[in-house]
Amino acid sequence: MALITLRQLLDHAAENGYGMPAFNITNLETLQAVLEAADRTDSPVLIQASRSARKHMDDVFLKHLVLGAVERYPHLPICMHLDHGNAFDTCLSAMNLGFTSVMMDGSLKSDARTPSTYDYNVEVTSTVVHLAHARGISVEGEIGILGSLETGAGDKEDGHGFEGTLDKAQLLTDPAQARQFVAETGVDALAVAIGTSHGAYKFSRRPTGDILAMNVIEAIHAQLPDTHLVMHGASTIPEDLQQLVNAHGGEIPATFGVPLEEVERGIRSGVRKVNIDTDIRMAMTGSMRKYLTENRSSFDIRGVLVPGRDRAATLCIERNERFGCAGMASKIRPLSLSQMADRYAAGNLRQKVA
Ligand code: G3H
Ligand code: 13P
Ligand code: ZN
Repeated sequence: MALITLRQLLDHAAENGYGMPAFNITNLETLQAVLEAADRTDSPVLIQASRSARKHMDDVFLKHLVLGAVERYPHLPICMHLDHGNAFDTCLSAMNLGFTSVMMDGSLKSDARTPSTYDYNVEVTSTVVHLAHARGISVEGEIGILGSLETGAGDKEDGHGFEGTLDKAQLLTDPAQARQFVAETGVDALAVAIGTSHGAYKFSRRPTGDILAMNVIEAIHAQLPDTHLVMHGASTIPEDLQQLVNAHGGEIPATFGVPLEEVERGIRSGVRKVNIDTDIRMAMTGSMRKYLTENRSSFDIRGVLVPGRDRAATLCIERNERFGCAGMASKIRPLSLSQMADRYAAGNLRQKVA
């Protein structure tokens, strides 16, 4: 089976009322964990690589890892997506590498730290959409800036994101502006700011509506009922994984992620792509720490990596089942990029704006 585009995958998710976990991959073992989970649950695969993950793996190795995934699991539809593209050139290089979807995050300037303007965001995103759609490739855009409504701090944890304090208006997507942005850019999916942020330290308490603004998702969905919404920073930071890390030498202060029920609430209101990176990192590093503390004389690399991979796969299985994409892979017949390009050219995939 060939790779699938994000647009076709999320259209299927919308038609069938489910959400797609978008798992970040960092290396062979994280990719294997996601694929094994998809295989065991008959789920479509949505994998994404950030700029730093691309750098870590090297584009050539990454390209062949993805080709390997298609060859190893020919029965699974697999979408390869660029996470947080910071500029046109970054998106272009991903498209040239064979990605079937890119995110142009124009909420920040190309330095990935300075808040941009609405006009800048529209211009850079539209330019990417124009080229991508001509090639049949999908585009995710972002309106609003990710960051904490508790502290006003921008999302700086992973080396990208705003450093400093933002006001509430910047941290919450304005539904009317979201509607205008989709109409002006033609993006296939829209990332929105609702108080989530990347990494483990999202909330200092179990989030309530004042710091996790699910009502904003609902308001955006009312304006854009046919647009696929994307929830970034959607890891749940499970308590058992915090305990696993801390029981084996880690020092993660008590913290809270996005509760699964809130993600499910989002899925009922148009969220189709749910970004998960940190939970996989915690599953892997917690299990690896455990192995190393219990096997102090070991120098077996595979001994360390295998429990990490297995725990990450378990997490991915749980998310596939909970978000409703389990059982869906065998129902999808991927369209080729040229078929998708024809549909864009014919105007059949234009986002409907209420
Ligand atoms: O965008 C956020 C993801 O968690 C990627 O993080 O840039 O450290 O790979 P990263
Ligand atoms: P988490 O850090 O919550 O896993 O979010 C990942 C993400 O949004 C990647 O774009
Ligand atoms: Zn993100």
